[in-house]
Amino acid sequence: MAIISSKKQPPEPNGQPKQQRESTKASSQENILQPEAAIDEQGKPEESIRPQRFADYLGQKDLKDVLEIAIKAAKSRGEVLDHLLLYGPPGLGKTTMAMILASEMGVNYKITSAPALERPRDIVGLLVNLKPGDILFIDEIHRLSRMTEEILYPAMEDYRLDITIGKGTSARIRSLPLVKFTLVGATTRVGALTSPLRDRFGLVQKLRFYEVDELSKIVLRSSQLLQTNVTENGATEIARRSRGTPRIANRLLKRVRDYAEVKKLTEINESVASEALQLFQVDPCGLDWTDRKMLSVIIEQFNGGPVGLETIAAATGEDTQTIEEVYEPYLMQIGYLSRTPRGRTATKAAYKHMGFTPPNEQMSLL
Ligand SMILES: Nc1ncnc2c1ncn2[C@@H]1O[C@H](COP(=O)(O)OP(=O)(O)O)[C@@H](O)[C@H]1O
Ligand SMILES: [Mg+2]
Repeated sequence: MAIISSKKQPPEPNGQPKQQRESTKASSQENILQPEAAIDEQGKPEESIRPQRFADYLGQKDLKDVLEIAIKAAKSRGEVLDHLLLYGPPGLGKTTMAMILASEMGVNYKITSAPALERPRDIVGLLVNLKPGDILFIDEIHRLSRMTEEILYPAMEDYRLDITIGKGTSARIRSLPLVKFTLVGATTRVGALTSPLRDRFGLVQKLRFYEVDELSKIVLRSSQLLQTNVTENGATEIARRSRGTPRIANRLLKRVRDYAEVKKLTEINESVASEALQLFQVDPCGLDWTDRKMLSVIIEQFNGGPVGLETIAAATGEDTQTIEEVYEPYLMQIGYLSRTPRGRTATKAAYKHMGFTPPNEQMSLL
């Protein structure tokens, strides 16, 4: 049950709304290797390379297999798709998948994000306007307010809206039927979801980082749409530096294209891609300043670790959550960092990449 009111929420403690505060932070640390979308990546040009159909959504085979079956089953039964929760680091294709699901199911979608659903009437407005089978996509779903979440429970479970009319002793609960719809939630922090909300999703799917060969296919596909001539080796070179993330791969491709245009080069091959990305100071493995700082702190100040998360956060000036959700997953994926119960340690490969001799090899040199 939820109480609907149009009363304004109390202001944030420092007088600035949450969203605004966060965007200031994001722009001050804007970086070519940041997996979140930059301001100029939210418009039309970005949409022109976003895959529209399953066939264009490259990689993520496990996810696609599961969803293809879910779509076929729902279609053959003439039912709506189960509510779906997608989680994983930014830039891996959660929003894109939600849009593809809508087009494959032949329904409309509405996209919103939890911070835009502060007041109960925001979510109610969206729910009552849905058409049968529509997809409602809520980004950053771990940030829903409690009242909004409570409206969603019966809406997800029974397609019903429970609202309280009036106040005090004269208050009455009215239930309104809703059309059947599919909620697609996306989050980078699945652990931060409340369990009643998580339990109401029929499908919970994780997106993983992409392999280099998958990313190079994405680069080749985008290069065709951007009408840029990229060789296979050129695409691989860009892919290797993209942190397993399609959004970064597309961004690097655009930077390399600018470079080739200015230099009047007609083809982007391996050496052009590598020259351009060196110029933009993109590390050969896609590491950025924070990754390198993390590894150098572990290696130089703590002899390879283990080092606690708090210490790493303090040394890099990042918060522990960003370190855990954005930086560590990629460093672990490429085998540079391991998590042990006592803290983080740098691997041999990390020593080599950073230009240090790994400890046991140092011993054998003595
Ligand atoms: N599987 C994929 N194949 C091709 N391009 C992709 C794929 N996944 C993501 N992209 C590209 O990466 C960009 C970011 O994806 P998006 O769905 O917005 O990520 P998320 O919502 O997870 O942060 C999209 O604009 C799209 O062009
Ligand atoms: Mg998104």
